Amino acid sequence: MKQVWIIVIFSYVAFVGITSGKGVDLTFPKGFLIGTATSSYQVEGAWNVSGRGESVWDWFTKTKPERIADGSNGDTTSNSYYKYKEDVKYIKSLGLDYYRFSISWSRILPTGYTNQINKDGIQYYKNLINELLENGIEPIVTLYHWDHPQFLEEMGGWTNEIIVDLFVDYARIMFKALGDKVQRWVTINEPTLICRYGYYVNSLQIAPGKDLGDVGVYLCGHNILKAHAKTYHMYDKEFRATQNGQLSIALQCMGYVAADGNDVDTAFQFDCGWMAHPIYKGDYPEIMKSRVALVSKAQGYSRSRLPRFSKKWISYIKGTWDYFAFNHYTPVYVTRDPDERKGIYNSDTGLINGILPSWEASAGIGFYVLPSAFGDLLRKLKDEYDNPPVWITENGCPDHGEIEDYNRIRYHYLYLTELLKAVKRDGCNVKAYTIWSIIDLFEWNSGFTVKFGIVSVDFDDPSTPRSPKLSTYWWKNVIKSRKLLPIPTNSSMMLKKEFSSCHARSGPFS
Ligand SMILES: *[C@@H]1O[C@H](CO)[C@@H](O)[C@H](O)[C@H]1NC(C)=O
Repeated sequence: MKQVWIIVIFSYVAFVGITSGKGVDLTFPKGFLIGTATSSYQVEGAWNVSGRGESVWDWFTKTKPERIADGSNGDTTSNSYYKYKEDVKYIKSLGLDYYRFSISWSRILPTGYTNQINKDGIQYYKNLINELLENGIEPIVTLYHWDHPQFLEEMGGWTNEIIVDLFVDYARIMFKALGDKVQRWVTINEPTLICRYGYYVNSLQIAPGKDLGDVGVYLCGHNILKAHAKTYHMYDKEFRATQNGQLSIALQCMGYVAADGNDVDTAFQFDCGWMAHPIYKGDYPEIMKSRVALVSKAQGYSRSRLPRFSKKWISYIKGTWDYFAFNHYTPVYVTRDPDERKGIYNSDTGLINGILPSWEASAGIGFYVLPSAFGDLLRKLKDEYDNPPVWITENGCPDHGEIEDYNRIRYHYLYLTELLKAVKRDGCNVKAYTIWSIIDLFEWNSGFTVKFGIVSVDFDDPSTPRSPKLSTYWWKNVIKSRKLLPIPTNSSMMLKKEFSSCHARSGPFS
């Protein structure tokens, strides 16, 4: 890969603005936090090192490489298991407030059971947390970001209720080991995506890549809700008094757009609401219960494919949050399925997902750029869940790894402009924004074909050197001034120099 070294002249005069932020005060509110995120399988590498057990992603990428765009895997990826100190240096030099990373379940419990606890695995995360704290960066820890032990998957994974208590056992070990230094936890990342793409037919399959018809998807969601709630209550009972941290679950919420507002709501409830309604309001959304019952009946099932929660479970799950965490990437355009007028049910939602031709595409399949859908989503969450404190736990833009990543800067600029509008004009209670991601990494079924990092990683070089992109500099200035700065326009704001090995090894810029 041809690399360039970019030197930014740190003068706002040199930035040429665009006007889409007109009328919006682009200063971040007092106390607003900006951080960045990664996940264990995507950055750690060291897959067979120091007692780590096999995870579903090891198994999936090795046995089904054809499901990964470039046939690659996370065996070594960004090597953050060895290079975490360099990652932390970048996070610090950018001035970011926090780092959200996840723990590899199988690095801690190689079999998923507590009979074998891997001390080296725990030590790795202790080292990372200490490095962050020494550099004034808050660690935010996700317990589970899609990579559960393969042994548990062989017993059914998230479709077997036994995983609920095993997850709680694992969480307890982590609270005990790290909880004195961690004030903010995420139990589970994007459950609806695991269930929909991991246990259901779809071309975008992710691990474990099981086709369990239209049954597995809801079993998976049901058990994830139970695991989250049990973990939350366990923390309350055993740790909150001494550790006093905040817990939540990081949902995936797309930005739905439709000609009819009812369709927007239906799509929202089947996506974000599937998990949010039980946790923030109690039980599954009415529209999910009635639609899945209707379609199940039409398909000949004697009961709804959507499992029911008892009254006890409904109240046990409700309220298991300390803040509202969600990830957001893309808009989706939904239309009513015309077949339903003929009594043919093709989906539980009754909707067809698509896009509008006017939407701007990105380098990632299924990732479109529509900032207004993000603003609408923030307002929807405010209205739907009584304006909870919101943490955007992921947002970012895929490209092909350009060092001069104007599209990425533009994406963040436009999405943050919408965020500031939603906060300042509409009173949305947004507390924090998380850049996905700090470094380039293994992007699931896209492998290394798309990149999300604001810092580049050269995967062709076994030493996986990091180097800044244009967005590294833009973000550094934004964070320093606590204000959204205009999108730079090419050469007026920088000098380019051919890459030299001296720069390559010098680590983060000062
Ligand atoms: C770990 O896996 C790598 C391939 O990613 C291999 O080269 C190495 O020999 C393995 N190490 C051990 C200890 O099995």
